[in-house]
Amino acid sequence: MTKHIGLYPGTFDPLTFGHIDMIERASQICDLLIIGVAENSGKSPLFSLSQRLNIIQEQVSYVHQKEKCTSNIKVESFTGLLTDFARLKGASFVIRGLRAVSDFEYEFQMASANKRLKPDLDTVFLTASESQHFVASSLVKEIARFGGDISSFVPVEVSKYMADLLSEKK
Ligand code: PNS
Repeated sequence: MTKHIGLYPGTFDPLTFGHIDMIERASQICDLLIIGVAENSGKSPLFSLSQRLNIIQEQVSYVHQKEKCTSNIKVESFTGLLTDFARLKGASFVIRGLRAVSDFEYEFQMASANKRLKPDLDTVFLTASESQHFVASSLVKEIARFGGDISSFVPVEVSKYMADLLSEKK
């Protein structure tokens, strides 16, 4: 039987509750979900690749514990084109989250370019859950930078990493 491998790519700088919501729901619609962490997506991430991988791996283990029987999520990093990574992993589709209409143009462009580069690779969009509609990593970083409370946006482990990072930078 064909295994449906879904690829959920992103920078995850840092992982938010919005991403975790996507991961939980995306894992329900494929046999294997690969979270593809882009090493350097041109955004000069605040968190190093290994920090982002550790954070995601930790949260994925909680998701697996919660869902008990379905341990179908893998976390991997990639460099270069997403379509090359998808080819390497045998992914059938890419999964992206849509929070608002403003996300659409960027996502549409990316999905169309990826489709041109790899015509058999489709992008599936999941709409963000209502409580996560406005949550973005960039917003979280800005709030943290100015000393705001980010506990309702990210897991407690991420808040701690963020506090450590920001105090190192002072
Ligand atoms: O969470 P993000 O930062 O919006 O994710 C963007 C990401 C990493 C999915 C995108 O930048 C990407 O796919 N980068 C890999 C390089 C690539 O394939 N670029 C062309 C996409 S059309």
